[in-house]
Amino acid sequence: MATIRLGDLAPNFDAKTTKGDLNFYDYLQDSWGILFSHPADFTPVCTTELGTVANYLPEFTKRNVKVIALSVDGLESHLAWIKDIEETQNVSLNYPIIADETKEIAHLYDMIHPNANETFTVRSVFIIGNDKKIKLILTYPASTGRNFDELLRVIDSLQLTANYSVATPANWKDGDDVVIAPAIKDEDIPSKFPKGFNRIKYYLRMTPQPNK
Ligand code: BEZ
Repeated sequence: MATIRLGDLAPNFDAKTTKGDLNFYDYLQDSWGILFSHPADFTPVCTTELGTVANYLPEFTKRNVKVIALSVDGLESHLAWIKDIEETQNVSLNYPIIADETKEIAHLYDMIHPNANETFTVRSVFIIGNDKKIKLILTYPASTGRNFDELLRVIDSLQLTANYSVATPANWKDGDDVVIAPAIKDEDIPSKFPKGFNRIKYYLRMTPQPNK
């Protein structure tokens, strides 16, 4: 198993899922992707997480992001559990869950951290760009459910900074001012950022979000 780092090509794989067999790259096509693991079926935090992602799906779709979940439980277990998720979280589970019983994909993406748990995947998140490169890696312990608003916020930042010479400051949200990339010279700012800018320090220059 090789370590996966930011900027690496996301490893491709074939998988059995609740929506049929698939190839990861074929599933993603030209979209961005989120691959996230959860420790086990029929567990409370995972139930809320998978339900939340189903509720957020329109937000991910709006951003051209395809979502796929993974655990090392089997397909029958996933399908039975989905009924509980749909009942308790008031959703229709409209994205695939990988049944990675052999743990091949979990190992490929280093989702099993033996000193945390020998058997189950931790709560990993990989955001994958439409160039198939890894843009973000998060690892949460089993006892802490993830914040999916944060994932939407990061996607907004990643997609913005992929298209403009900007970075997003602490606690930035879509619509807030952004930081002008240090590589941009002061004299080039007016043509690149016609909405104006605020020069707080030579290295800290703020401008309204360019695509709003
Ligand atoms: C849960 O999803 O609730 C959970 C899973 C594994 C360990 C602890 C909690």
